[in-house]
Amino acid sequence: MTSELIPTIAEMRNRLALSRVRERTIGLVPTMGALHSGHAALIERARADCQVVVLSIFVNPIQFDQSADYDAYTIDLAKDVEFCSRLGVDLVFAPSTEEMYPEPLSTFVEVEGASEHLCGMFRPGHFRGVATVVAKLLNIVSPGKAYFGEKDAQQLAVIARMVADLNMPVEIVPVPTVREPDGLALSSRNKRLTEEERKIAPMLYKALQLAAGYIRDGCKSAAEVRDLAISYLQARPEFRVEYLEVVDAESMTPVEQIAVPVRIAVAAWLGAVRLIDNVKA
Ligand code: PAJ
Repeated sequence: MTSELIPTIAEMRNRLALSRVRERTIGLVPTMGALHSGHAALIERARADCQVVVLSIFVNPIQFDQSADYDAYTIDLAKDVEFCSRLGVDLVFAPSTEEMYPEPLSTFVEVEGASEHLCGMFRPGHFRGVATVVAKLLNIVSPGKAYFGEKDAQQLAVIARMVADLNMPVEIVPVPTVREPDGLALSSRNKRLTEEERKIAPMLYKALQLAAGYIRDGCKSAAEVRDLAISYLQARPEFRVEYLEVVDAESMTPVEQIAVPVRIAVAAWLGAVRLIDNVKA
């Protein structure tokens, strides 16, 4: 089966109208392309749950806080469509920037709380851009379910909160992080790592596992957990830790005393590449 490529909002709506009349369940997987096995896990989950699977590919300019990162974000649409075809995606929605933003927006979705810490502190406007484009995609496709990776746990929390606060009629389905055999979380940015950086990149996940083990062993102090994990990473000068925090798993706000279910989340620069990861604890 070949996935059908749809470049415009009007066509997308027309194409899905019939599915809705037939009461088919529609699943949406929002992406920025450069598809890999992490995205495949979302597609497989959507394929198992829904009768019609839509994958969107849109490199969203308003969520990039650094233009160099946006410029470096190159995608090969033909390759991505082939990837989608192999995994049984029905429709690939790949609008141009002009189609999504015919004029500068006046309306943005701002999710307070969940957006404020971690990546929100270091990437101003990032989650506002993410929430806004996801709201637009949900309005265009109107899926019954939409799929997001736990790899971006804060993004997931922001979207879940937006959907709850604004009564959007969609179920947000979280999908566990897909990793390389050595533990590195799959990301389209991994290919920008040098050979040497790629070798030490799995230390990020090891630091999180170390921290999670410390919590399992009974440590209740977030400060102690942070210190342990950060000093493990500081053994390699190539890492520049942006944050490493123990956060409430739902609100994504840092905790001091570890009592509730938590996540440990990290962002670190390895050379010119910013990597993020997180685990439940
Ligand atoms: P992108 O980085 O392309 O990711 C698309 C989806 O794939 C996200 O939900 C992300 O969490 C998930 N994903 C990426 N790597 C993963 C991995 N290793 N394991 C499991 N899931 C993984 O996230 C975005 O795009 C954008 O911000 C978007 C939501 C599309 C809005 O523009």
